[in-house]
Amino acid sequence: MTSTLTIESRSLDEGTIEIWTIDREPSMNALNRDLVRAIGEAARRAEENKEVRAVVLTGRGQKAFCAGADLKERRGMSEAEIRDFLALYRTEFRFLDKLSKPTVAALNGAAFGGGLELALVCDLRVAAPHARMGLTELSLGIIPGAGGTQRLTRLVSEAKAKELLLFSSRLDANEALALGILNHITEAADTLVDETVQWMRPILSKAPIAVGAALEAVDAAMDLALEDGLAAELRLYERTLVSRDRVEALEAFLEKRPPRFEGR
Ligand code: COA
Repeated sequence: MTSTLTIESRSLDEGTIEIWTIDREPSMNALNRDLVRAIGEAARRAEENKEVRAVVLTGRGQKAFCAGADLKERRGMSEAEIRDFLALYRTEFRFLDKLSKPTVAALNGAAFGGGLELALVCDLRVAAPHARMGLTELSLGIIPGAGGTQRLTRLVSEAKAKELLLFSSRLDANEALALGILNHITEAADTLVDETVQWMRPILSKAPIAVGAALEAVDAAMDLALEDGLAAELRLYERTLVSRDRVEALEAFLEKRPPRFEGR
């Protein structure tokens, strides 16, 4: 993997979590082409690797999770190159978006513009107490181009999304938690990743096939009309119905022991 993203595997009793750390601290972990490609590549590998049960995405240092698009790189880009860059967001972030394993953004500092958009691609978001975030693109004469307008509006109300965009609001962690943008705030900044991993442990104890099906079903709820969503739920239930782990859960219940899920 390129040096823009460092990947560490952590083995726990329940399974392996990958910690992806954006490694561009001098540029506030801003998104350049290499980093966007590295995120897509990491997501493709994590999908293939049966050992990986979940992913934490964080940034190096305590200043920024990701300060959005690399504005120094952007300054030298033509309009056509910027269009290509936006296309790269769509193709590469899609692998992260569609990953069948839970992804948690752990915000170690500022997440502005594309930085918050990247966090919004993840399933869940945890932040250190000092983290700040917002879709600040309108201050730069543009709008979000990595899905932010769509994903933020799905998380908060239409009027709140418009407010946050039009004011280029920079929310603190408590404000973001109250709006449902964050799922959890850690006790301290320097224990962010460890606390996030501990917070995620109950997820790891669940059957991987059911976890993947639940993520897909909720995603379907955001995209489909109710009848189509209900059909998608049935189709996804079927995946769990024929799994070995479903039988294991019933056996474990009757034998009064924790289940041993194998993801099959
Ligand atoms: N792209 C490239 N470089 C960036 C950057 C970005 N998005 N954001 C910050 N940097 C660089 C700064 O230019 C500076 O580099 P320099 O030392 O060569 O001058 C360095 O990172 C430190 O930034 P600075 O602003 O001095 O640090 P800070 O701690 O005062 O503030 C931020 C950090 C993230 C709050 C602030 O830099 C910021 O608001 N950045 C822009 C965020 C933004 O609007 N993103 C939307 C992009 S779509």
